[in-house]
Amino acid sequence: MQAMAFSSGESAAAGGATLPSAPRLTASEAGLLVAILRDHCGLSIPAENRSFLELRLGRRLRNLGLTSFSPYIALLLGAEGATERQFLAESLVTHTTSFFRERAHFDWLNDEGLPALAQQGTGRISDLVVWSAACSTGQELWTAAILLDRACRGPLGRLRWTVVGTDLSRSALRRAQGATYSEEEIAGLPEDWRSDYLLRSSRPVGGRHVFRIIPELRRRAQFHQINLLDPGRMPGITADIIFLRNVLIYFDLPDQGRVIHQLCTRLRRGGYLLTGHSESLVQPPPGLVPVQPSIYRKD
Ligand SMILES: C[S@@+](CC[C@H](N)C(=O)[O-])C[C@H]1O[C@@H](n2cnc3c(N)ncnc32)[C@H](O)[C@@H]1O
Repeated sequence: MQAMAFSSGESAAAGGATLPSAPRLTASEAGLLVAILRDHCGLSIPAENRSFLELRLGRRLRNLGLTSFSPYIALLLGAEGATERQFLAESLVTHTTSFFRERAHFDWLNDEGLPALAQQGTGRISDLVVWSAACSTGQELWTAAILLDRACRGPLGRLRWTVVGTDLSRSALRRAQGATYSEEEIAGLPEDWRSDYLLRSSRPVGGRHVFRIIPELRRRAQFHQINLLDPGRMPGITADIIFLRNVLIYFDLPDQGRVIHQLCTRLRRGGYLLTGHSESLVQPPPGLVPVQPSIYRKD
């Protein structure tokens, strides 16, 4: 059989059509891109992840009609770069989340964390504050809000509480604040939670009904766009429970340490920090005591 020949700069595509090959990132371009990501986008992706960057950004370069990374880097650093930098950050992070994600945390909060906080008087005089520090589209925050409301109607008695959602991504935050979800997205919620805490749209949207968190809970939530790597610009949040889950993966080790240290300073004594199940801290900072894997208490 005769070998298929490709002209340089092209690769095979289905049906014999050709596509331009993905632009390659040189080591120096990777260094520049990593610096831009670190300094402007809140992501500390190691420069060794060149193939990841090529893969994720190749399509964007093609859409912009660019065949190499140099003009793309110039665009990012140029006068109009802010919009493209936001786009760049969005294209490198995933917003995957769900109600009750890593359910063991919510079971622990219900059975142990919230009762312990209530016992030490949290929520009696000032609000018990739950902070979802990388809240994405909000399901983590709303799961916590529903859990709190139920606990206050039951064993904990009346407590004052607030939930705070923050994220780097403005589009994710808009969805979190809108608090509106599809049937598939609410599939993880028990039936009685759905009937008590969600309102079904009166008319279908795009052929399907959507579901919105009730106003009584929405009134208790605040949202802020923040970069966890830029503590100087963070609003003054002090919390009793901080969810810092599935976001440390975007930071290199030194930045992970800095973010954890920073959030610890915003955690009240006796409060809890929850990391993703796969993000347990190898060496928690002084004052942060492991309670269970991926759950820490500030002493
Ligand atoms: C995979 S989601 C995690 C959502 C939720 N915490 C969970 O565990 O289901 C990761 C989120 O981290 C956010 N993120 C990434 N880097 C960030 C940064 N430097 N500051 C704040 N948020 C960041 C992303 O925008 C994304 O929404």
